[in-house]
Amino acid sequence: MPLMSQTLTLLGIETSCDETAAAVLRLQDGRAELVSDVIRTQLDEHAPYLGVVPEIAARAHAELADLTVKAAMHEAGISYSELDGVAATAGPGLIGGVLVGMMTGKAIAQAAGKPFIAVNHLEGHALSPRLGNDCPFPYLLLLVSGGHCQFLEVRGLGDYRRLGSTIDDAVGEAFDKTAKTLGLGFPGGPAVERLAEGGNPDAFALPRPLLNRPGLDMSFAGLKTAVARAAAEDTMNDDRMKDLCASFQTAVTDILATKAALALEAFDPGGDGAKRFVVAGGVAANKAIRAALDEVAKSAGARLIAPPLRHCTDNAAMIALAGAERLAAGLVEGEAGDLGTGARPRWPLDEAAAKSAPVYGTGRRGAKA
Ligand code: KG4
Ligand code: ZN
Repeated sequence: MPLMSQTLTLLGIETSCDETAAAVLRLQDGRAELVSDVIRTQLDEHAPYLGVVPEIAARAHAELADLTVKAAMHEAGISYSELDGVAATAGPGLIGGVLVGMMTGKAIAQAAGKPFIAVNHLEGHALSPRLGNDCPFPYLLLLVSGGHCQFLEVRGLGDYRRLGSTIDDAVGEAFDKTAKTLGLGFPGGPAVERLAEGGNPDAFALPRPLLNRPGLDMSFAGLKTAVARAAAEDTMNDDRMKDLCASFQTAVTDILATKAALALEAFDPGGDGAKRFVVAGGVAANKAIRAALDEVAKSAGARLIAPPLRHCTDNAAMIALAGAERLAAGLVEGEAGDLGTGARPRWPLDEAAAKSAPVYGTGRRGAKA
């Protein structure tokens, strides 16, 4: 039975990639209030390897999960018995980390006699604009991170339609690999953006794969290879590095902006006709990309909503929100909830689209569907 009018207090846990995070959130009448929000990043541990190492991530999650949950509960100043449920990311993601978070969440839920809610990490990202902004359904979402790159129509809770996605690498992955090619360290996005600011975006002619094809699918693998080739063939110096970063970032921006314009054209919000366009994920931190998407939104008569960076990148607040919204809507069955649910390394939001048109990818999180 839906619990709309009741105040729900949820603990959320996120461990699907390289952030160990826990948050406590209150949901009342559809409004979310964040009570605590703890994020422990493992960047330093993965940096020497220029990418996320799954085994290192799993071990770090195992070491940090209890401490992070404790910190979130302490900050919230409540006891486990005051919770109405415990939500944890059940996938998609790196399986070792997902298992740690789920086991932690299930143990707490069982010990406290509360329902456990298995949350799809992508649903967390999809709902993240609702953490602070007034962002009613439906809206168009562009999710751009190290593991995902897709356009989704968010019609309602649990009602998602995939409009298009990368057919190979995620966009953040392309930034990270470009940074690796140029020796800029990990994560690559911020470093590439910094250098791009002083470079000439027309200096290198880089491809924009799938740009002129109809549809909303995207591709970044060819662009990444072109960057590597350009770097190998050029007498690279500091200025040429800046130029290559600027040329790469502009190519990415062109792809995202062009496809966003098409997506907004196709998106029918119904109701009052207000078009909301949300961009989320780590790459949404990029100022040039944000500015270009803002322009596209304005031209289409839409409003661009970008959650604060803390909630664009992986966090537990969005997992707690997804759990609370599911509980409030009566989508969690029985007193134990999803205690019997297992971890899923792959878990598309739009299962029907994923089945009829599977996306094959080789990236950090596998298929970007
Ligand atoms: O959402 P996120 O924290 O983790 C995943 O779910 O993957 O996104 C991390 C990704 C990395 O690939 C990182 O290089 C990229 O977001 N990123 C950026 C910027 N800041 C982070 N990419 C471009 N420009 C940035 N400023
Ligand atoms: Zn994520």
